[in-house]
Amino acid sequence: MAITLKSAEEIDKMRVAGRLAADVLRMIEPYVVPGVTTDELDKICHDYIVDVQQAIPAPLNYRGFPKSICTSVNHQVCHGIPSSKVLKNGDVINIDITVIKEGYHGDTSRMFMVGKSTVQGERLSQIAYDCMKIGIQMIKPGVTLGDIGHAIQTHAESHNCSIVREYCGHGIGKVFHEDPQVLHYGKPGTGLVLEAGMTFTIEPMVNMGKRHVKLLKDDWTVVTKDHSLSAQWEHTNLVTADGYEILTEHPDWPL
Ligand code: MF3
Ligand code: CO
Ligand code: CO
Repeated sequence: MAITLKSAEEIDKMRVAGRLAADVLRMIEPYVVPGVTTDELDKICHDYIVDVQQAIPAPLNYRGFPKSICTSVNHQVCHGIPSSKVLKNGDVINIDITVIKEGYHGDTSRMFMVGKSTVQGERLSQIAYDCMKIGIQMIKPGVTLGDIGHAIQTHAESHNCSIVREYCGHGIGKVFHEDPQVLHYGKPGTGLVLEAGMTFTIEPMVNMGKRHVKLLKDDWTVVTKDHSLSAQWEHTNLVTADGYEILTEHPDWPL
C-alpha cells in the first residue's frame, strides 16, 4: 500500500482528531487512582468520546477488539483489554486512545502512575518518554525511518532496557494503521525517506528486561515473556516543510 501525503484540508481534520484524542487522556487522568477498574476507565472514555466529543472510539470492534480503549498494566506491553481488573497503588498503566472524527484518526497514549509511584515505574516511564521524544524531535524531510529507529533503540539500550520488535508505529489518516511501519529500532540511513505531508505515530514499547513478548489467550493482550515491567508513550505526528507538528499534543502536557 502506498504512503499517503495529506492535503491541507486533511491535515486540518487530523489536527482536530488528534486534539480530541489528547483531550481524552487529559480528561481521564484524575480517574486513574487505586481501586478503579480498567472497565470503569473504558466506560468513562467511551461516553466522553461518543457523547461529548461526538466522535468514534476507533478500537471498539476494530478487528474484533471488544472495548473502546487499551489499558496495559505493569508487564502488559500493549493492547490490554479493559476488564474488572482493579488498579492498585504502585501500578503503572498505559492508556491508549484513538478517536475518529470526520473520518480521520488521532492516536495517542501515555503512562500514568497509580497512587504513590515506584522508583522503577517512574524510571522506565521516563526512559520510554525520552525514546518517543528523541524520535519525534528528529522528524523532518530527508531523515529516514532508520535514523529515527536507531536513535530510539540506542537510548533505550543505553539504559539497559530493550525495545519491543513485534509492534511498531504506523502511518495514520483515514485508515487507523496504514503504511509506513515505523520501527523503533534500526540502522541509520535505511528505510523510508520522510516527506512533508506524511502522518505517522511514534510509540516505542520499552521493557525493563528482555525484549521478548508473548500474546495472551485473549488474542490481544501482549505481555513481556520475562514478566518485566513495560512502558509506552505515543503521539501522532505530521512531517512539515522544515520539521514536525505533533497532532496529539495537549497544551497542558507539551513535549
Ligand atoms: N492504538 C493502538 C496503536 O497505537 C492500536 C490499538 S488496536 C486495538 O496502534 F484494537 F487494540 F484497539
Ligand atoms: Co498507534
Ligand atoms: Co495507540
